[in-house]
Amino acid sequence: MKSLEFYYKDCLKNGYALGAYNFVNLEILKGICSGCLMSKSPCLASVSEGAFSYLGEDFVMPIFRTAKEHYNLPIFLHLDHGKSFEMCKKAVDLGFDSVMIDGSGLSFEKNVKLTKKVVDYAHKKNVFVEAELGVLAGVEDKISASEHIYTDPKQAKLFVEKTGCDSLAVAIGTSHGAYKFKGDAILRFDILSEIEKELPNFPLVLHGASTVPQKYVEEINKFGGEVTGAKGVEEKLLKEATTKHNIFKINTDTDIRLVYFAVLRKHLFKNKNNIDLRKFNNEAIKEIADYVSKRNEDIFNSVNRI
Ligand code: G3H
Ligand code: 13P
Ligand code: ZN
Repeated sequence: MKSLEFYYKDCLKNGYALGAYNFVNLEILKGICSGCLMSKSPCLASVSEGAFSYLGEDFVMPIFRTAKEHYNLPIFLHLDHGKSFEMCKKAVDLGFDSVMIDGSGLSFEKNVKLTKKVVDYAHKKNVFVEAELGVLAGVEDKISASEHIYTDPKQAKLFVEKTGCDSLAVAIGTSHGAYKFKGDAILRFDILSEIEKELPNFPLVLHGASTVPQKYVEEINKFGGEVTGAKGVEEKLLKEATTKHNIFKINTDTDIRLVYFAVLRKHLFKNKNNIDLRKFNNEAIKEIADYVSKRNEDIFNSVNRI
């Protein structure tokens, strides 16, 4: 099976991206794996700090390892938005393939210092380190920001030189959650191109990349939910980032939540006497798999890359 290192290079060389899908339970992980198997796509399974404590420290690795073996897939375990050295160290020691240290809320100097500390530790154990520079509007774990602070291209170069990180998450207009844009959905490709001039051939990451498919939002609302005014990133913008730029990893959490809840709400509304959760969970796994495989095909260009 090819390594994560292979995909870092191959994505940039051949204009495709790895989907990094967040999971918080076994059902979502099964859906992600089935979808990637359908499209024959390598991917990352991401665990946020919140998901890590929800799943339970002792459960994360065994669940992931079993899924990887069962589906026989190049799927890699990634810590999403690690906020401290201790959290990243814990993930490295447990056997994660990749960790993100998110010092984006700190000053440049403090972000460099924290990221470098994680890099020095993780690299001894051959674990990849993603860092972040710039701030996405919206909510990142427990931190929220009302404005974007776009990544400064010159600072990005200095940051990578000083820290030795393996990839960098950039802020170019995406944001976390289901409410990304009030007006036009714009991504700052001009800033992305400047970053790429400063950091040629360097793997970049896009967070907050859910497309918020309206069919799921409508299903949720039709069957009792109230998710109003939700808006995501347009598919064509993500495709441009994947195929024409050095974005090699694209994060998706919100869309999977929407898929899950669309299935759940519809099922509960239509089957008021059902008290067997396997019935809607099996539907959810299937719907997540279809969504993931389609996204790998339509946006990430990652079909048949295994
Ligand atoms: O980027 C943030 C992810 O969507 C994680 O969300 O902290 O609620 O698990 P969470
Ligand atoms: P979304 O909220 O757009 O799915 O972004 C998820 C993310 O960036 C996880 O790190
Ligand atoms: Zn994120």
